Amino acid sequence: MKEVLAIRRKLLVANWKMHKNISEAQAFCRRFLPEIEECDRADIAICPPFTLLTAVKGALGSSKVKLGAQNLFWEEKGAYTGEVSPAMLLDAGCEMVIIGHSERRHIFGETDEMINRKVKAALRNKLIPILCVGETLEERKKGQAEEVVKRQLLEGLRELEYDGEIVIAYEPVWAIGTGVNASPDDAQKMSFFIRQILKGIFPEEKVLEMRILYGGSVKPENITGFTGQPDVDGALVGGASLDPDSFAEIVRLSCYA
Ligand code: 13P
Repeated sequence: MKEVLAIRRKLLVANWKMHKNISEAQAFCRRFLPEIEECDRADIAICPPFTLLTAVKGALGSSKVKLGAQNLFWEEKGAYTGEVSPAMLLDAGCEMVIIGHSERRHIFGETDEMINRKVKAALRNKLIPILCVGETLEERKKGQAEEVVKRQLLEGLRELEYDGEIVIAYEPVWAIGTGVNASPDDAQKMSFFIRQILKGIFPEEKVLEMRILYGGSVKPENITGFTGQPDVDGALVGGASLDPDSFAEIVRLSCYA
């Protein structure tokens, strides 16, 4: 088990959602980068809104922190008002993209089929998709959490023709932005379950390298409970990633978990 863990570097991803302007984003980077300089045992990414991608890329400079987006559209170009293509994200310096976040599913009506098209478009363009899955409180109460997550994985990862890294983020909807995090034990149980499902889709060697993140009310006070679990390989952080000190603390604590 130790060897398997060693091949999966921790990954900490900031999802800024619809927050910050250009000067706030630049100020964040100025403070954040020196704080995580010493931490070379984890990968770090920031996913700002589209309007900040270029500014954040510039502010990150030659640091090891990667840039990601929060969404994309699956077509390459054309009359799709309001949408952003994978090539545009690459052009802005993105290396990864969050797909199927619960806010996209629940507020904007994204279906598993749309999410599958987005995952394929990301992989086709050599962007790392961070596929988000997770059950609502109602589904959990009805004992359907695993069934829902299984469906989201099987549909979201359907018929992939492209190789490349894929990251899964388990984000129970009831834990997002509520201050009520899942217990580390629940996060481990679901991440283990996710890995079993992935083994039915991809070769085992690939699955052992795939990173599964936990997301939902992660903060410095609870991060090590998650990253200390054998199947949890990092976190997708919302609110606590908006503050450079708090996100840096999450990164530092994960490096040594
Ligand atoms: P919070 O960390 O604010 O709960 O958000 C989690 C999330 O949705 C990250 O994608």
